Amino acid sequence: MTPFTPPLALRAETPAAWAEAALADPEALLSDHAHCEKKAALTAMNLARHLGDQAHASGLLSRLADEELDHYRRVLEGIQDFGWTLQPDRGNPYAHELHRLASKGLLDQLLIAAIIEARSCERLWLLEQATAGHPTLGAAPWLAFLLELERCEAGHAHAYRSLAEERFGRAVVQQRLDWWLDREAETIQTQPWRSAVH
Ligand SMILES: [Fe+2]
Ligand SMILES: [Fe+2]
Repeated sequence: MTPFTPPLALRAETPAAWAEAALADPEALLSDHAHCEKKAALTAMNLARHLGDQAHASGLLSRLADEELDHYRRVLEGIQDFGWTLQPDRGNPYAHELHRLASKGLLDQLLIAAIIEARSCERLWLLEQATAGHPTLGAAPWLAFLLELERCEAGHAHAYRSLAEERFGRAVVQQRLDWWLDREAETIQTQPWRSAVH
């Protein structure tokens, strides 16, 4: 397995065995991921409401939302192509817990977005490694899509961090990110594995 470096220095590495557990129910995995992509687009647009006075931030967030919507549409198409049905949103206890720990301020919202993107990126990479022999998701176009998602979400993690640094300064962001990386590591390790990216 080639080494992987997440876009943020996550402090709890996901065991490789996680991917096998996530792939146990690929219909549920893709359904959950479709809902995640939809929520990622909404997050970007919601943050644009708060950074709308900055042209650079508005442009970046609109492109980011556009990419998430494209991911959402393509995951939905995949579910349909496999003959599956989009399952109801079961919620995301991991993201819910991070938001529960956060202040309502913009800095925390940007850093949570960055961290969730980074964790998604790590897990998409693990899925890509494990999916090669999978009877349905192992098809070449899906492996390519997973790789594209992984790279794109890495870019989003960097984008959210840089937006935070532009607004709050590097020192403030580094200090708060340090706190968040510990909270994220605690949170991800308490989540039971399921057919979902997190
Ligand atoms: Fe995405
Ligand atoms: Fe993303």
